[in-house]
Amino acid sequence: MPTIVFIEPDGQQREIAANVGQSVMEVAVQHGVRGIDADCGGACSCATCHGYIDAAWQERIAPADDVEVDMLGFAYLREETSRLTCQIIVTDSMDGLLIRLPSSQA
Ligand code: FES
Repeated sequence: MPTIVFIEPDGQQREIAANVGQSVMEVAVQHGVRGIDADCGGACSCATCHGYIDAAWQERIAPADDVEVDMLGFAYLREETSRLTCQIIVTDSMDGLLIRLPSSQA
C-alpha cells in the first residue's frame, strides 16, 4: 500500500496508507484530513479538493486533463503546483507522494 503524505493547513503532517485505485481526495476524506472539502464528491466540478503537489512529484504523476485544467481555474488560493486531488488516482508508484493543503478551499 503506498503511503500518501498530507500537510494540513496548520502544518501537521499526516501519513496515510492508501488503496491503489482510490483517488487522493478519497484517501483524505476517509481519514479526516483537514483542508479538503470535496463538495462535489469527486465529479471534477467544484475545485474544493485542490492541493499543492510537491515539486519532486510534479513529473511523476499523470498530468491534468483538459477538464481538470478548466476546473482548476476556479480553485481558491491556486498556485502553480495546484492539482485537484479527486483527479489523481493512487498507484503503487505513488509511495511517499507529498501534498500540501491550502488554508482554505473557498
Ligand atoms: Fe470536486 Fe474534486 S471533489 S473537483
